[in-house]
Amino acid sequence: MTSPAHHANPTPRCTAVVGLQWGDEGKGKVIDLITPAFDAVVRYNGGANAGHSVVINGQRHALHLIPSGVFHPGKRAVIANGVVVDPDALLKELDALTAKGIDLSGIRLSDRAHVVLPWHKAEDEARETLLAGGPSGLSIGTTKRGIGPAYSDKAARSTSVRVGDLLRPEILREKVHTAWRFKGPALNALGADTQAIDPDGVCERALAAGKRLAPMITDTVYELHDLLRSGRSLLFEGANATLLDVDHGTYPYVTSSNCSVLGIPAGTGVPGKHVSDVIGIMKAYSTRVGSGPFPSELLDDTANSIRERGREYGTTTGRPRRCGWLDLVAVRYAAMINGASRLAIMLLDVLAGFETVKVCVGYDIDGKRTDRFTPDAASLAGARPVYESLPGFPEISGVRDRADLPRNAQRYVEFIERYVGVPVDIISVGPDRVQTMVSHARH
Ligand code: IMP
Repeated sequence: MTSPAHHANPTPRCTAVVGLQWGDEGKGKVIDLITPAFDAVVRYNGGANAGHSVVINGQRHALHLIPSGVFHPGKRAVIANGVVVDPDALLKELDALTAKGIDLSGIRLSDRAHVVLPWHKAEDEARETLLAGGPSGLSIGTTKRGIGPAYSDKAARSTSVRVGDLLRPEILREKVHTAWRFKGPALNALGADTQAIDPDGVCERALAAGKRLAPMITDTVYELHDLLRSGRSLLFEGANATLLDVDHGTYPYVTSSNCSVLGIPAGTGVPGKHVSDVIGIMKAYSTRVGSGPFPSELLDDTANSIRERGREYGTTTGRPRRCGWLDLVAVRYAAMINGASRLAIMLLDVLAGFETVKVCVGYDIDGKRTDRFTPDAASLAGARPVYESLPGFPEISGVRDRADLPRNAQRYVEFIERYVGVPVDIISVGPDRVQTMVSHARH
């Protein structure tokens, strides 16, 4: 028999917003737009490698660790256990938001999130330098925020510190000194500069950070389940993107967490069955930062034009992004991995003005045509894009209704819908909140 309590509070629908390409698809804008319908925005993966920029009233805000829900007073902004947290980066971000008068009382930080320490950043840097000097000369092109080494230590267990430890001086000191016994020699062997790293200093800095962060540190798993039990709805905010997922992306040119929705259960303690609505975010074209195969990459004036019009420079590192035509093979694969229920096409305005726009609808690999993605860097490196050309369209940044888009822009959107097999629900034609067309209100 079902208990009356079960009927009283049916589990609310939760939504996930996740990037379907190599990151920087504009997730922050969509999350900001739909947050009013939710009670909490939850980050489940990644760290300060991510960068969301949100434009509100013409002012651009860049976030790295804090969920963009923070701009909505009264909402929870949860950094869950799957995130790796650099306390220095988090405090910097909190200070910047305080200076802008943003209310921070809704922020919750998991006591089980792992901590990025100075040696993680040094190791990230040293590994990249070593790879760059290796036979292929190709590093991963990381953001050097210590993400890979921090997740490695999380899995290694004996060398990691969790956020909860920042509140327990004795335990923290022991953990930091134990970690340093492994890290010091390893870093020296890698040729890293360890002069500036002193384990006692690391401890004191971490404890000071813990004091400041203490009011927001909590068991976010119970916090989230309490919210669900009381009928509140959650919005999960993916960082990085599906093609950078450590299991399902273009390995090894990926980040070190599960960026797809598959990272939600482990990264938050909320079972996947609660996430019934998945918004797949994609740009109208493709970009990638860092190394790794990118079949539809352009190296000509078209790429420059896309980069300038789309302001395609990294939010976190300022690096110019690699640009290319839309790769629908990759997007359809990512939509499948995530079980995307609707799509948001971002930056469609950037493609305005081209006489013809191309979309990649297949790959030629070793003379064989395929429309299946290959989430393995070595195989994907040999893929030649098979394009379909579509007629271009004029300026659209002032359009506010999908039905008012020029016919060829509508055709472009319909082509994406047909190929991916998922309806397009949101179309963005500029950075501001008002430059967004939403087809169906789901909440
Ligand atoms: P890491 O996450 O710093 O280890 O970097 C691994 C790869 O993921 C590199 O190619 C980065 O450029 C890329 N990357 C990580 N986070 C993001 C993101 O938020 N947007 C775009 N690329 C990212």
